[in-house]
Amino acid sequence: MKITVIGAGNVGATCADVIARKEFVNEVVLLDIKEGMAEGKTLDLWQTAPVDNYDTRLTGVTNDYAATADSEIVIITSGLPRKPGMSRDDLISTNAKIVKEVTGKSVKYSPNAIFIVVSNPLDVMTYTAKLASGKDAKTVFGMAGILDTARFRAFIATALNCSPKDIQTLILGGHGDTMVPLIRYTTVSGIPITQLLDKDTLDAIVARTRAGGGELVKLMGTSAWYAPGAAAAQMAEAIIKDQNRIFPVCVELNGEYNVHNTYLGVPVKLGKGGIKEIIEIDLNEEERKMFDNSKDAVRGVMDVLDEMKFF
Ligand code: NAI
Ligand code: 2OP
Repeated sequence: MKITVIGAGNVGATCADVIARKEFVNEVVLLDIKEGMAEGKTLDLWQTAPVDNYDTRLTGVTNDYAATADSEIVIITSGLPRKPGMSRDDLISTNAKIVKEVTGKSVKYSPNAIFIVVSNPLDVMTYTAKLASGKDAKTVFGMAGILDTARFRAFIATALNCSPKDIQTLILGGHGDTMVPLIRYTTVSGIPITQLLDKDTLDAIVARTRAGGGELVKLMGTSAWYAPGAAAAQMAEAIIKDQNRIFPVCVELNGEYNVHNTYLGVPVKLGKGGIKEIIEIDLNEEERKMFDNSKDAVRGVMDVLDEMKFF
């Protein structure tokens, strides 16, 4: 069983590392356009295998798609990361060309693969991959919700000085400033979060979560990779092991949530074959308004892509 990760940069190499250590497939192929990059990173990773005691094979290649043939899953991380002062949407034209190209080449060698998109702007790059692959939308989706909820959970854990393991929450909408963290669906081991944190603290955590990617860009001069790589690997694990995990995932909505032909983050059941079910949750008036606002923002960027006539 093989997983291919396209893009051997910060996120792609981290994702390959996490997958290899978890040993749920036999081989991880890492592919990059930059000569020697994927070969070097996988060689370095393979040399951690004897130290950390795992045996997932790691193969690095420069643009050699034949090596990716018959992958169960292709994870797309190729593209420019956001730099300080750059919005995710600034990335659209450059990254759409890259995502279109790598998806087309990957699908040729792995027509039955499930595609997990990570490249930004996430919702629109997932749409790009769907168009480029010609595949069913249940097999082409994007990673953002696990990362965004992980940030929300981590901030709550810090505020409460408790384990992040015990925090359950949900974030809907696009991967950007309009995302919709749902306080009403947030608990700590079943205890509603509103019984543990006051409104001002919660509002501050919500605001920090929405700006979570930008906070890291400001600190590091490039975007995050540890949590994004781990989050994409968690989705791959759920699919390979047919775990039926319930995760927020960027999927094509076609009638669900009364939204049509738009990629947005909502809870899904993830297992063998990809998206098994899109779960529709009840939203109150305020939550619905924020969700619609996020939908309009994402749809606007999808329209920009449509106008570029890449397809
Ligand atoms: P990076 O610059 O470290 O790595 C990107 C890699 O893609 C580079 O090694 C580059 O050579 C490669 N690449 C570019 N064009 C290619 C092509 N045509 N074929 C194969 N490889 C190609 O960037 P990083 O930090 O790994 O981020 C990757 C992407 O993921 C960015 O678009 C970033 O914004 C996005 N991202 C998305 C997140 C999410 O939550 N969905 C979270 C973090 C990053
Ligand atoms: C993040 O949220 C930039 O999308 C990237 O870290």
